[in-house]
Amino acid sequence: MTESYQPPVAEFPLLQQNPQLIYLDSAATCQVPAAVLNSFQHYFTSTHANVHRGSHRLGRAATDLLENARGIAAAFIKAPADDVAFASSTTAALNGLAQQLPVSWREGDEILLTDAEHHANILPWQRLAKQHRLVLRFIPVDPVSGGLGDWQQLINERTRLISVTLASNITGAIFPVAAVCALARQRDIPVIVDAAQAVGHTELDVTALDCDALVFSGHKAYGLPGVAVLYMNARWWRRMEPFVVGGGVVRQVTRHDAELVDSIQRFEAGTPNTAAISATVTALEWLQQQRAMGLTGYLQELRQQLVDGLQQRPWLQVLPAGANHTPVVSFYCPQVHAYDLAVWLDEQQVAVRAGHHCAQLLLQSWDLTAVVRVSLAAYTTAAQVQQVLQYLDEAWQMLGPTAE
Ligand code: ALA
Repeated sequence: MTESYQPPVAEFPLLQQNPQLIYLDSAATCQVPAAVLNSFQHYFTSTHANVHRGSHRLGRAATDLLENARGIAAAFIKAPADDVAFASSTTAALNGLAQQLPVSWREGDEILLTDAEHHANILPWQRLAKQHRLVLRFIPVDPVSGGLGDWQQLINERTRLISVTLASNITGAIFPVAAVCALARQRDIPVIVDAAQAVGHTELDVTALDCDALVFSGHKAYGLPGVAVLYMNARWWRRMEPFVVGGGVVRQVTRHDAELVDSIQRFEAGTPNTAAISATVTALEWLQQQRAMGLTGYLQELRQQLVDGLQQRPWLQVLPAGANHTPVVSFYCPQVHAYDLAVWLDEQQVAVRAGHHCAQLLLQSWDLTAVVRVSLAAYTTAAQVQQVLQYLDEAWQMLGPTAE
């Protein structure tokens, strides 16, 4: 075990108030450290005003806070601040991109996704495909290795866009998105990266990736729901219509037309949730500090202990997770339904997610209907992992085929 890293459980008020809780659903949303909650509250007691509108000093302070937050979020993904917009969620950003991409679609054009996409990175493309008679193609995920199947051969002269998840929210597999971006760049095909499942566990570098857009949700990185960070390269966003239009982003409005600002803020019409944005960038800074203290290695060791323990139980099947993975592990028991296992664990105060995890394509392609997912985070301890394995043994005795 990484000696140097101590899980900062005491920093999480919800966990302090629920000491019996073993929270293993961090891939759905992370618990929030006190520093982030304090930042949220501090905003309302010190800086709350509308941004980019008021000329009074409180309005200027709120605007400075928002723009400072943009700089921190941009640095976190190694992007220029001028190319980073705040959105309300990864889902909203992907929907907006799908509708406003500066692409002249022709019938039969292809969009390439993977079978591991979360529904947020499938449904917007299905809608677009119906509007323009496009073809969606899906890179398979290898059922043995858990890595991406042969993706190169799916890129052809009709491929107009690639939109891929950096990590599976079910298996935790981290996909070779840098290689996808490199080949796409050679062929002049834009790439969107859904980094929502990866942000909590891998460094993001849009400059190195050379992608056209990347988005992640703050609440998957110890921040608050309602905030997503959306990078778009200037080649794109300068030619793109905003996803929504309205106040705060206009230079001039006449009865029948409007001239918008020509900065990235044109993608932020309406009053932004500056409090949640400010708290979320506090979370990103907190996460960087934890990484500097050894969080990533710690979670990989914990994940390995979990996988080893699960694999020692022949009645459980662990889903494969490729060569690189986040600390997310899914498994199933052919004799006991995933929901029954999750309910059993919940009775022992263990929170896991069971089902298709809003990524039905992957489970369908592997002929599965539901799996149990355990997702680890900074506050997970080795003792909790062992405790869960013991609870699973008890579940097998109570619910398995030899149960009375
Ligand atoms: N995307 C979230 C999950 O994987 C909701 O659980």
